[in-house]
Amino acid sequence: MMPIPSVDPIPLPAPIWLFKLLHLVTFALHLVAVDLLIAGLAVGVTLHVISRWSHSATLTQVSGLLAHRLPTVMAYVINLGIPPLLFAQVLYGRALYTSSVLMGAYWISVIFLLMASYYGLYVVAKRADQRKGWTSTGLASLLLVLTIAFIYSNNMTLMLRPQVWSAMYHANPSGVQLNHSDPTLIARWLFFVSGAFPVTGAALLLLALKSDLDDDTRAFLRRFGGVLIAALLIAQTVFGEQALALQPSGVMSQVGADALYRPFTYGWAATAALLGALGLVALVTRRMAGVLAIGAALLAFLNVVCEVLVRDGIRDYTLRDHGFEVWNRSVVTNWSVVGIFLFLFVAALGFLGYLVTVMKAAKPMEEKYV
Ligand code: HEM
Repeated sequence: MMPIPSVDPIPLPAPIWLFKLLHLVTFALHLVAVDLLIAGLAVGVTLHVISRWSHSATLTQVSGLLAHRLPTVMAYVINLGIPPLLFAQVLYGRALYTSSVLMGAYWISVIFLLMASYYGLYVVAKRADQRKGWTSTGLASLLLVLTIAFIYSNNMTLMLRPQVWSAMYHANPSGVQLNHSDPTLIARWLFFVSGAFPVTGAALLLLALKSDLDDDTRAFLRRFGGVLIAALLIAQTVFGEQALALQPSGVMSQVGADALYRPFTYGWAATAALLGALGLVALVTRRMAGVLAIGAALLAFLNVVCEVLVRDGIRDYTLRDHGFEVWNRSVVTNWSVVGIFLFLFVAALGFLGYLVTVMKAAKPMEEKYV
């Protein structure tokens, strides 16, 4: 008997390619925000601890700059997480709902872990503004955020393993199991965690362009951003290779042979190599800082997009090998709803653009954490 539930009485109200596109775009944006949160917090706490110990004004200032931005980043993580969750449920509901039920207690706990870590970030930002210590709250928030990432990796890998669902349910139907027997789990989680640092490194290069910061802070941000990019890209590549090598047999060869996914496997390597090179250049020179920062940010984003596409290929081919073909879902397009959705989507983007112009026109606030 096929373990994936076959009943799905409601056809999709829009073409599959449209759901896929929206899902991939919104998930890539979610992942960028997640990267800025995980590594921004990890780097912020580390620099804060060193600054308390070394009395370095530059490190205090940099850790304060990061702490101050984290609650806003968390708001993006959450708001950009909801759309891909809806699209993933629409496209892969039969697999995703099953795995979510099997690990239900952990899945529901995300809400509470999220609230606790978000609260911690507000405390961190407030204490940094007041020039007080925030090591323990920062560490606690980081631990919670890493736990949330681990729970997500558990669910996103468990949904790909219909062969273990029945045994798991019979062993314990209370939703208190994780996907710990999956060989890909730890490498995949470490891949996402380490991948947070190069993206944050690119963001530090952008932050270094802020004209109201003193020279030492800007120089530190630029060099440290370069180090994060170059060093952690290597770690991410190692975990990525491991996670790919541990995929079920035949999956990676099918992804590599697919005309849609193949360019993104090469794109992933190419953007990582170029980003690493820019990181090294930023480390050794202060010339062309603007071009380097914008180039690094673009490459970091493209690298995440490639990562998201390869991940998508792995999911589709793994599920296909278990008899679930996402492109075979029945579709009855409701064009008026699709039209209203697209209109509101474009209007929201326009409104966001307007908000950015308002923000740019606002008088900059002096940021001092020393
Ligand atoms: C601190 C908060 C969060 C962190 C650290 C985090 C981290 C992650 C990570 C690492 C993944 C990739 C997992 C994998 O594929 O192995 C992921 C996927 C995902 N996250 Fe988040 N996340 C957070 C909050 C949220 C929230 C609040 C939502 C939604 C309301 C959300 C929605 C999603 C979705 C839908 C996916 C998978 C999309 C797909 O499979 O296509 N996340 N998240």
